[in-house]
Amino acid sequence: MSSGEASPWMTDADTDHHLKESFMGRAGEIQPEPMFDPHSIRADFPALAREVRPGVPLIYLDNAATSLKPWPVIRAVQAYDVDFPANVHRGLHTLSEEATAAYEGARGKIARFLNASSDSEIIFTRGTTDSINLVALSWGRATLRQGDEILLSAMEHHANLVPWQMLAQEKGVVIRYAELAPDRTLDLDSFDRQINERTKLVAITAMSNVLGTIVPIQEITRRARSAGAVLLVDAAQAVPHQRIDVRALDVDFLAFSGHKMCGPTGIGVLYGRQALLDQMPPVIGGGDMVTHVDRAGAEWNELPWKFEAGTPPIAQAIGLGAAVDYLSQFPWDQVVALHHSLVRRAEALLSAIGGIHLLTPPNQVNGGVISFTVDRVHPHDLAQILDRSGVAIRAGQHCAMPLHQTLGLAATARASFYLYNKHEDVDVLAEMLQNAQKVFHRR
Ligand SMILES: Cc1ncc(COP(=O)(O)O)c(C=O)c1O
Repeated sequence: MSSGEASPWMTDADTDHHLKESFMGRAGEIQPEPMFDPHSIRADFPALAREVRPGVPLIYLDNAATSLKPWPVIRAVQAYDVDFPANVHRGLHTLSEEATAAYEGARGKIARFLNASSDSEIIFTRGTTDSINLVALSWGRATLRQGDEILLSAMEHHANLVPWQMLAQEKGVVIRYAELAPDRTLDLDSFDRQINERTKLVAITAMSNVLGTIVPIQEITRRARSAGAVLLVDAAQAVPHQRIDVRALDVDFLAFSGHKMCGPTGIGVLYGRQALLDQMPPVIGGGDMVTHVDRAGAEWNELPWKFEAGTPPIAQAIGLGAAVDYLSQFPWDQVVALHHSLVRRAEALLSAIGGIHLLTPPNQVNGGVISFTVDRVHPHDLAQILDRSGVAIRAGQHCAMPLHQTLGLAATARASFYLYNKHEDVDVLAEMLQNAQKVFHRR
């Protein structure tokens, strides 16, 4: 937060009455929280000050793809390159010791952020995709046998789908899918019908990158445990938007990316339960992941380095540590309330326009994503015309083709929010969508 600025949150009284009512829900199922004030941190994000083209400021609503980076993260990455640009774990000189301390210090910050039992349970990877592939290639290859089953959901990102399909082909494993309920939340009855004694792995997203749907992970853990299955959670969207406690959730593996939570690209995390990681073979061989090598073979290093062959993304890991520090200073329930209110506002304004169809499950807690279609306007055309006004949204299938097939849609448009988005951003989105409709419907 920039120093000397106003209180970082505002009260309900600042919110429009009808939106507040909708935020609380008719049944009162969602407790009102004071909301975090995004204005208090916008100066931390230099990209928010730029113009997309002369006179056109940026309205960034593509946060589910990647978030903007705040100064403390930019400076932490720069400090490595400027002050101690050395390799880790190798040299006995000052710069290498400083780099190692910063790199391992970042790991410790992430372990505490997730409430992991130890730093050894935090493996640095290139991102969520890399983390999930690591589990598939190591745990999956070593453990799964022909006829074993993997249970996924109908809303998975390709990152939590294709690695399992590749493994299924290789090992003769069967993939099953828990379906969506009519309101596009996860259908737990369908989940119960698909899980059985052959299910060896449940791999599921904690939050859909298309629907914003939040999956009740504790419910999933309970079911996976009673089936004796291992549980992997794709938390690429959840870690940036919720506070995740891996011990309270009792998950076995959890994967996420730094770049969606104010951190740099090229860095992510695989959290793994130590007892499982200890048994797993490494996937990539090379320097740093061994304690002894001779002509005949090698002995693996201990955790977490067994899975971190070669020179790691040092600056990026340090940047992710800075992102964790940055996010940790905010009252998170209030940030969640802000994301929720932005979605509620978008729902209210967009559904009032007409010709716009929202995919977001109604009256549900939402992690800050709203996807929609507009009658007779292709999402790609929509994204391009909105870009003329500086509004950045995503269009396409968002790396979730099977979900779009289930929904019977060729493509969707998606606006996704983060802690620097303000209500005015939603208002501009709604106004620009109306303008786009006029342009396209005139043709
Ligand atoms: C739910 C989900 N899983 C996995 C990924 C893949 O993340 P990455 O590309 O950082 O590996 C994404 C990225 O959009 C995502 O939204």
